[in-house]
Amino acid sequence: MSQDTQPEYASLRIEEGIAYICIDVADKSVNTLSTPMTGRFEEILDELQDTPPIEGVVIYSGKAGHFVVGFDINELQELANNPQDILPMLKRGHALAARLESLKVPVVAAIDGTCLGGGLELAMACHARIVTNNKRSKLGLPEVQLGVIPGLGGTQRLPQLVGLQTGLDMILGSKQVDAQKAKRLGLVDDVVHPGILLQVAAETARKLYAAGDWQERHKSSISEYFSNPAEMVNLAAKTPARKLIFNQARELTRKKAGSHYPAPFRAIDAIEAGYRGGFEAGIEAESRAFDELVKTDVARNLINLFFMKQEVDKTSPIPWNTKAYPVDKIGVVGAGLMGAGIAQVAAYQGYAVRIKDVSDESIGRGLQYCKDLIDKLVRRKKISEPMGDVMFGHISGTTEYTGFAQTQMVIEAVFEDLDLKKSIIKDLEERLGDNAIVASNTSTLPITELAKASKRPENLLGMHFFSPVHKMPLLEIIRHPKTSSKAVATALEVGRKMGKTCIVVNDGPGFFTSRVIGAYINEAGWILQEGASIEAIDKAMTDWGFPVGPMKLVDEVGLDVALKAAGTLQDAFSKRWSSPTALKAVAADGRKGRKNKKGFYRYASGEADAVDETVYDLLPGGRERQDIDASVIQQRCWLAMLNECAYCLQEGIVEHPRDIDIGVIFGLGFPPFRGGILRHADSVGLARVAADMTKLAEEFGSRLKPAQIIVDKAEKNASFYA
Ligand code: NAI
Repeated sequence: MSQDTQPEYASLRIEEGIAYICIDVADKSVNTLSTPMTGRFEEILDELQDTPPIEGVVIYSGKAGHFVVGFDINELQELANNPQDILPMLKRGHALAARLESLKVPVVAAIDGTCLGGGLELAMACHARIVTNNKRSKLGLPEVQLGVIPGLGGTQRLPQLVGLQTGLDMILGSKQVDAQKAKRLGLVDDVVHPGILLQVAAETARKLYAAGDWQERHKSSISEYFSNPAEMVNLAAKTPARKLIFNQARELTRKKAGSHYPAPFRAIDAIEAGYRGGFEAGIEAESRAFDELVKTDVARNLINLFFMKQEVDKTSPIPWNTKAYPVDKIGVVGAGLMGAGIAQVAAYQGYAVRIKDVSDESIGRGLQYCKDLIDKLVRRKKISEPMGDVMFGHISGTTEYTGFAQTQMVIEAVFEDLDLKKSIIKDLEERLGDNAIVASNTSTLPITELAKASKRPENLLGMHFFSPVHKMPLLEIIRHPKTSSKAVATALEVGRKMGKTCIVVNDGPGFFTSRVIGAYINEAGWILQEGASIEAIDKAMTDWGFPVGPMKLVDEVGLDVALKAAGTLQDAFSKRWSSPTALKAVAADGRKGRKNKKGFYRYASGEADAVDETVYDLLPGGRERQDIDASVIQQRCWLAMLNECAYCLQEGIVEHPRDIDIGVIFGLGFPPFRGGILRHADSVGLARVAADMTKLAEEFGSRLKPAQIIVDKAEKNASFYA
């Protein structure tokens, strides 16, 4: 017996006593939950009431590799931008989940591929979950990353399935787990090959139906859990331990997220409300929190950021039909911090990597660095041990250029020295094929200047990775006037395959990121010179939302490196740029920062422990520091950074405001909750920004005078984003 419907969100068919609900949103590459989807599910459940007897329901996706990726983020953005009462919408979703839970037959979710957010919440309302061993099968609740919390019962059902501590970890850290881990945690019932998914799901439904105990088995039903007197006794016994877990979660969240991100705190509140008052109380707290959070600036900014990142990950400034050169073998010159980091990330993605350095010792050090990173992945169960061996087997070293003739792309990461880099480009071009791409990882040297050493400048560009390469998500691709679109397409393809978010910028002193971070550090240096303490500067900026303060950042980057970059920028923009002498004086004392354990901070334990007071002896004012207001420090630093971003836009170094915001957030640690530096400037209002900068310029120096593009936009009452 079979009954078919062909709606555009989900269809129902009945075969051999099992009702199959196939989620398949028409004209979309992935499935999302939305108001129309809820409507369609309600219709299907109505239809099921009138069908002949069935033994179970199987919910699956018609899209290979994607179950349901979450709530429709367009609808979420609409809600964030046009605040309205969304409680009725949430209530409707809960009612649907409750209807599924209380069906007279078991419901089994058959999951192949991504099962995130609302998708996982739907699956958790089912009586069992079967997931495929597809590499793409990932389960998690990532809502906190978007400034909201799960809104369809996820804060209640997940901790019940996987335990309080793991549930908190997954929700607060927006963590995703693969099929095997999901099974270990108790989040799913079985892991199977995709070819037998529906068959196993149907069998599971039949077995549960025959046993008649699926409702009891359905651990995720918190109402059941709480109505069980034995559990209530148990719960009372565990209460002090739970209190401790909640308190620790709040403490950890405060340390990690600070006070700028309300969502994780509200998620903890909602989970705790469920534990204290039962399922309904938990759902009510969750709905209230979701409703309030989605209307905050933080959620609006984080949701917009999600869209911007998606756009950057999919689009590029080159003609859309430009084909990349095929690359499967990559050469890396320089096995130092960056070269080894690049090699490991490339090998992780399956590239065969050949590294060249000047000595066996440096090659050995580089390979060991790669090995340590791979071992860490194995220890954390991200990859299996044999997989780790295969990966490490992809990397080999040489002190000559043997093996380089077969590589289709080489990334050089030798010392920051123009002549050395030029000679390497010449060496490489003698050995490489005509179409091979040569990329420089330089952080400041002009690519146009490097291209002068090249016989094939069209194949030369910058690929600026950030340190540590395996952690930092941004890759800045720099093209000089002669770089071909094909070369850019190749760099984009390789960079994206390495898992990086890539922005393409045009060449100029310091390109985009080094120039902008240079302006920020420069201003902090002036504030230090004027008498502020190192602690006050760093605290002001971390309070504003940066992960580290500018002085600690200089220690991380290295004072020598920072000064070299500052020199390049000072020379290039001497008409409007001025550098303080403070940083030079500190560097002249032999302080390089973390790398020689001597900088603005002390490194007795290996980490930056405390400010090194002796630095003040090198500075104007000595150890008597001035009390400079945190708001003034914050304003000067972010506006100095903004001004340089505006110049980059004005000069065409970066072509789209979106790329600037992605660049500062993913490369430079600009606080994500502000949505990006240009978006933040827009929200302050450019007229006010221009007026503040003009005033600051009069007081502290003309470098803070607003770029013309800011002045023009302020006059027209315009903004960076339409
Ligand atoms: P590093 O000092 O750790 O490594 C440089 C490596 O190049 C050394 O192993 C050295 O032996 C090797 N080398 C020197 N001459 C060579 C030659 N002729 N042939 C082969 N290898 C040679 O330096 P790091 O930090 O890895 O920086 C490398 C490049 O990456 C520089 O251009 C730097 O500006 C850039 N960069 C550095 C970042 C950082 O945070 N360290 C961030 C982004 C870019």
